[in-house]
Amino acid sequence: MSKVRVGVIGVGAFGEVHLAAYKTLHDVEIVAISDTSESRLREMAAKFDVKHCYADYNELCARKDIDLVSVVTPEAHHLAPVLAAFGQESISFWKSPSPHGWRTPRKSWRRPRRRACS
Ligand SMILES: NC(=O)c1ccc[n+]([C@@H]2O[C@H](COP(=O)([O-])OP(=O)(O)OC[C@H]3O[C@@H](n4cnc5c(N)ncnc54)[C@H](O)[C@@H]3O)[C@@H](O)[C@H]2O)c1
Repeated sequence: MSKVRVGVIGVGAFGEVHLAAYKTLHDVEIVAISDTSESRLREMAAKFDVKHCYADYNELCARKDIDLVSVVTPEAHHLAPVLAAFGQESISFWKSPSPHGWRTPRKSWRRPRRRACS
């Protein structure tokens, strides 16, 4: 079976928890990470051996080889990356519903061939 290829947007405290969890799964490959902090990006890329790093999450979301995206940015910054991930054929996961523009991502759940998990 081919591996599930994941991207993580926001690799702060809880993003690191996602990376550590993915690393334990044999059928998961961490393909790319994104963070606005370059130093944090470098630190997490080195720690989890991730080759592709982006300051702009749109570049991660534009990749065609990612199956699932974890959005682990602060709550006020959930909506735009979640919608960017929905724009591709990937499944998005984000921790807890955001109070900021919550109704907008709910609508996007109804779009065909795209799913969200929370
Ligand atoms: N820390 C926890 O124990 C914990 C537990 C449960 C849920 N959460 C949730 O996880 C989310 C993140 O929390 P945290 O504690 O990891 O915060 P954090 O501040 O440690 O990390 C957030 C990271 O997101 C990055 N970031 C901000 N805007 C960005 C953007 N536009 N694109 C890419 N990266 C961006 C920041 O540079 C930072 O590295 C929050 O929604 C929080 O509620 C955290």
